[in-house]
This record gives sequence, structure tokens and C-alpha cells, in this order.
Amino acid sequence: MAQNYRITLLPGDGIGPEIMTVTVDVLKTIAKQYDLQFDFTSVPIGGAAIDETGEPLPAKTLETCRNSDAVLLAAIGGYKWDNLPRHQRPETGLLGLRSGLSLFANLRPATILPQLIDASTLKPEVVKGVDIMVVRELTGGIYFGQPKGVFATETGEQRGVNTMAYTDGEIDRIAKIGFETAQKRGGKLCSVDKANVLDVSQLWRDRVTQMSEQYSDVELSHLYVDNAAMQLVRDPKQFDTIVTGNMFGDILSDAAAMLTGSIGMLPSASLGENNPGVFEPVHGSAPDIAGQDKANPLAQILSAAMMLRYGLNQPQAAKRIEQAVLQVLDLGYRTGDIMSPGMKPVGCRGMGEILIQVLESPMG
Ligand code: IPM
Ligand code: MG
Repeated sequence: MAQNYRITLLPGDGIGPEIMTVTVDVLKTIAKQYDLQFDFTSVPIGGAAIDETGEPLPAKTLETCRNSDAVLLAAIGGYKWDNLPRHQRPETGLLGLRSGLSLFANLRPATILPQLIDASTLKPEVVKGVDIMVVRELTGGIYFGQPKGVFATETGEQRGVNTMAYTDGEIDRIAKIGFETAQKRGGKLCSVDKANVLDVSQLWRDRVTQMSEQYSDVELSHLYVDNAAMQLVRDPKQFDTIVTGNMFGDILSDAAAMLTGSIGMLPSASLGENNPGVFEPVHGSAPDIAGQDKANPLAQILSAAMMLRYGLNQPQAAKRIEQAVLQVLDLGYRTGDIMSPGMKPVGCRGMGEILIQVLESPMG
């Protein structure tokens, strides 16, 4: 009997709906081949939810996510909602989803694909072979610490405040994911902090160092975040797995993504302990090309593969999708963002159709 999964779809804004449609078609194809059954429920988040309900994360959306086996998210945000008060902004919906599902671990791979090496702005010899996993803490740090807000001072000035805070428990649980991820990869973990200045970072460094005693098979190093940024563009191959806090992870994962030159290719997974994971592309909602069939759906499709692997424990189906993506690139098909001379231009739907053809052809 087919294994049944409830999948919540959050198409969101901008190019979100179009890349989601293509990805659902890919998942339906995979379902037939691996005897899986997906029950898809699509609910609004971000700007789409603001337009429908006035809130970026309606209670029903969070509830539907909680009651599913995995959540596939596309992208949120757009010019239209940029000037709303913070509690009504699309980004607030995304942060609410992360904290509402306690998704404290964000895995962001940045792998350079040989087929796309020319898409990088860095020299091929610098980026060839880059394979980094950024493990970003996602529900703590300066994004969520209290106090936060804009307050009036005694002199009548305004004072904006955010607080970077981590408890030892929060550090330990993400450090554990960092060490375990490194164990499954190249065995090297680099913890990134700002311990030369920040007390919260000193605690971070102390806890990570202490935990390393339990992982003698992992080679641990520490870098200050400014140096880490520099090393990432200077010699990215020195990195295997990086573990860091919420804001440093936000910044470094974008830098790592850009090494590959193709942010349109990168998936991510956000995982907690007792809730379904959320799987989403690293790129944003690209409102400038929305609705024009120009978007690259491959990061969304690879996010579906991450969902199969990390969320549903279907590694073979995941692998099949990942192989098919490489085959499509080998065949020379490219969306605009990864186009290079001599390749065959396709749109979002066209890319999906070719991928499905590859999936349906006998495995080579
Ligand atoms: C990301 C994004 C989000 C973040 C924004 C949209 C809230 O930049 O997922 O990296 O800062 O976490
Ligand atoms: Mg970011």
C-alpha cells in the first residue's frame, strides 16, 4: 500500500506560486514511481495572507502546518507590503512560522555544480569543489531576544533596541546538530561567533568547545564572523560545515549561496524536534519577474528533495530528483538566471516539463 503523507504547501508571494506549481507536478511524478501518496493542502502566508486575511500568518495556516507531515514553502514578500507596520509584514509571518513550529535548526547547503561553475562571479579554481553546509540557529539570537522595539528615551529621543541572547540550552541543541551534520559530511565543523566583542558569543564558544569533547571524530575550529566572511570569499574550500547563530547565519548563508553563482539552485531545510520541518528555497520571491514564467524552479524542486530526505525519510526518491536536476543541466537547459552561451533557454514551466520527462525516462 502506498505510504501516505500530508504536505502543506505555502506558495506565498512573487514567483512563489509558479515555482510551487511546477514542484507539485514533479512530486506527483515521483509519487507514482516510489509508491507514495501526497495529500496537498495549500494555505496562504506572507503578502498573500495579508491580502486575504489582514495577517501574514493566519492561525489556520499555522494549524494546517502543525497537522501535516512536512511543509513546503516557496517565498514571501514584495514591494506592495514593504511599508506596512512590522506586525503586518510578510517577513513577520515567516518568523512566526519558524518560532510557531520551533524550527531551531536551519540547514543551508551551498554546493557548486560543475555544470554551473561559470555562473559564479569568483574564479573557477576558487569555487571548484565547494561543498558547504551552513547550520544556522533559527529561533533565537537577535531575531527574537527581548527587549525589542522602539522606545522613547527621557530626552524624548527614540531608541531602537534588539537583544542578542542565547541560553546554554539553545546553544547546545544547535551545536549538536552542527556536530552531527559534520559527522555525516567531511568531519569538519567551524563555529562562527563574535566572541572578541560579545558576551553572548563567548558563551556560544565555550559551550561549543565543551561539546566537542563528545565528538572526537569532528575537527572543530572557531572563527570570528568578520574573518569568516573574508575566508568564505578568499578560500571557500576550507569549509565543510559551519554552525552559527541566527543573524550571522543569515548573512553568511547568503554569501555562501552566492559563491555558487546560482542562488536559484539552492534549497534549505528548517527542522525542530516535535513538529514537521519546513523546506524552502534560499532565494526570495523575486517580485520583478513574478508571473512571467521566467523563474528558476530548481531550488524549489531541490527543496522538495530535501523534504523527502529529511522530512519524510524517503532518501531514494530524494536522490532521484537530485539526479534528474543534474541530468537536465547536462542536457543544457537553463533558465535566465543560470544562462550561459550555447545553452538552451527555458522558462519556469518548460524547466519543469523537461525535468518530468527525464524522471519518466528509464534511468540511464
Ligand atoms: C532568510 C531571510 C529571512 C531571514 C527574512 C525574509 C525574514 O533573509 O530566510 O534568510 O532573515 O531569516
Ligand atoms: Mg536571509
